[in-house]
This record gives sequence, C-alpha cells and structure tokens, in this order.
Amino acid sequence: MNKRTGDPLLQINGLSRAFSNGKDKLQVLQSVSLDACEGEFIAIIGPSGCGKSTFFNILAGLISPDEGNIMLDGKKVPHLRGRMAYMQQKDLLLPWRNTLDNAILGMEIQGRHKRSAREQARELLKIFGLEGFEEHYPQELSGGMRQRVALMRTILCKKDILLLDEPFGALDAMTRGIMQRWLLKVWGQFGPSVLLVTHDVEEALILADRIYVMTSRPGSIKGSLQVSFERPRRITQADMVDCKKYLLELLEEEIMVGQP
Ligand SMILES: Nc1ncnc2c1ncn2[C@@H]1O[C@H](COP(=O)(O)OP(=O)(O)O)[C@@H](O)[C@H]1O
Ligand SMILES: [Mg+2]
Repeated sequence: MNKRTGDPLLQINGLSRAFSNGKDKLQVLQSVSLDACEGEFIAIIGPSGCGKSTFFNILAGLISPDEGNIMLDGKKVPHLRGRMAYMQQKDLLLPWRNTLDNAILGMEIQGRHKRSAREQARELLKIFGLEGFEEHYPQELSGGMRQRVALMRTILCKKDILLLDEPFGALDAMTRGIMQRWLLKVWGQFGPSVLLVTHDVEEALILADRIYVMTSRPGSIKGSLQVSFERPRRITQADMVDCKKYLLELLEEEIMVGQP
C-alpha cells in the first residue's frame, strides 16, 4: 500500500543547527528537509557524526534549531513533544527498576498511575518477548532484551510518531535480524509513523517505505529512495541488491568527502 497520498503528517523544512566550541563554530546540520506520511516507515541513513542524533534531538524538543521549521498536520510546531515517543541511541534503562517498571516509565511521566500502567504493560510482555522477565533488572537482561524493554517503553507511550535512534546498532547480526522482523510486527499492530536512524543500509532496506540518505557533516539530505517491495523482504532479492548498490554509492561518496 502506498502511504504517500494526501498531505504529509510531518514536514521538516530547512533545519540547521551549529554548536559552538569556545570560539569555534561547528555546523552540524545544514538545511535538513524531509517529510513523512501517516503510518509511514522512514529510515534515515548517514555517516557517523553527520548530525542524525542532533536532528532527532531537535524533533524531540531537547535542543532548538537555528533555522528551519517543523510542520505537523499542516501547522507549524516548535517540536513534536506530545505526539512522539523517542528512543534515544543509548537505551537509558534505569538500573534500579525492573523490566516492568522500566517499561512503564514513559506512561508514569505522562501521569498514569503505576498500577494501571503495569497492568497494561503486562499485556504486552509476550509480544515484546519479555514474558517471565518482568521482575528482572536491566543488568540481568541480554542486549536484545534491553532494547525491547526500551522499545516497549517507547510504544507504551501510545504516540503516533516514533523516533528510533539506531535501536539495534549495538546488537549482533542475528539478534538484529530477529529484532527487525519483530519491529515490523509491532509497527503493523500499532501503526505509528516511524522515523528510524540507522547506519546500516540493509536494515533500512528491510524495514522502510522510504529511505533518506544524509551527507557527511554538516548533515543535509543527499537523496531519497522509495522502497515499495512487499514485506517480508530479503536483501538477496535482485531488486533489493540494486537498491543497496545505489544507497552504498551515495554513502560512500560522503564517507570519502569526510576523510581528511
Ligand atoms: N551538545 C553538543 N555540543 C557540541 N557538539 C555537539 C553536541 N551534540 C552533538 N555535537 C557534535 O555534533 C556532531 C554530530 O553529532 P551527532 O548528532 O551525535 O551525530 P550522529 O548521530 O550522526 O553520529 C558531532 O561532531 C558531535 O560531537
Ligand atoms: Mg547518533
């Protein structure tokens, strides 16, 4: 199904941001523009250090842009807070809270009572592959499980936009494959718009409806690719191989530019 009909849910126009380090100014983002439709799965790939996390921090309202604007449902907004749930690059689980209580953290911040939040979280333990681990603490969980707790916390916030910053970056290849299939299942069930940052071209191709490629720092959008193949996809399909080649070429140019 093509979700690119009608007006986009989210339009990001010309976002720029610099940081100052003493007297030096580091331009991190330079006029980033992209859009996302309702229920669409967007992947953003770009070289390390090109400003991907900074971009998400702006969308989440943690830092402000120097220039540019964000339009949500056709209206200008300062950030997406209230409509999005953000899973930052680090899983940020609290070591003193068990699985269930880490999972409900977002709901608690939204003012929900612990008891009803826990009840709701319990219902999702199975689909998140955490059944039997609700009393475990983060340090007792595998990397994949910790990521699932963080993702469960993000999804329990029940927002229509998910920002996922390299959610599987730290996992081994096999666990990552399992988690990707599982994320697609959760996305299918809950139907949010997803913006996912990854440095992995294959991950973007397996998951996304549309892929944006960023330049090296200062990051801007270098190109985009609509991926219309049915899911589940295999990276070995001939047409996927062609897409991968195209994306890698775009990225490699950027990595070469970034070399001294
Ligand atoms: N708060 C900050 N102050 C100064 N520099 C920052 C800050 N946040 C990020 N940077 C710098 O911005 C650049 C881009 O960082 P980041 O957005 O984390 O990139 P990516 O997520 O693409 O790897 C890096 O050089 C980083 O050091
Ligand atoms: Mg990052």
